[in-house]
Amino acid sequence: MERVNRICKHPLWRDNLEKIQELEQDRIFCCHTIEHFLDVARIAYIEDLEKNLHLSKESIYAAALLHDIGRYLQYTQGIPHEEGSVQIAKEILKECGFEQEEQEEILSAIQGHRMQKTAFADDLAGVLYRADKKSRNCAFCTAFQECHWDRENKNLVITV
Ligand SMILES: [Fe+2]
Ligand SMILES: [Fe+2]
Repeated sequence: MERVNRICKHPLWRDNLEKIQELEQDRIFCCHTIEHFLDVARIAYIEDLEKNLHLSKESIYAAALLHDIGRYLQYTQGIPHEEGSVQIAKEILKECGFEQEEQEEILSAIQGHRMQKTAFADDLAGVLYRADKKSRNCAFCTAFQECHWDRENKNLVITV
């Protein structure tokens, strides 16, 4: 997990995470915190283990830690956050020692993490997509009524 921990020490990652926290201080909906990133990583890794997908643990964690890091660019420049996240992740992954092939797989998972077509894929992108959705504790959320997620997509019971 050495390369994953390098991501968490990378100044660009830390700087963006801090800026996101500042801008989300008064947000009533789900926020994009380290807790969210780690929930996504761990839920994705559980699926990997349960389904014997044999994905790389470091790639799962890297994708999860970086998938929403472009939120600040979305808030301040209107760039869709999956694109912003890819922009930022490109630089970070290279500098944290991920090989070209790993970078491409992780970047493509980040790019697709909001695309419906990714929902059922048995690859890194699919696992990231599902973990991202499952990570939200809708049943306990105080903004349940105001949230734009369709009721059938909300997590009302614990599944993982
Ligand atoms: Fe996202
Ligand atoms: Fe997310």
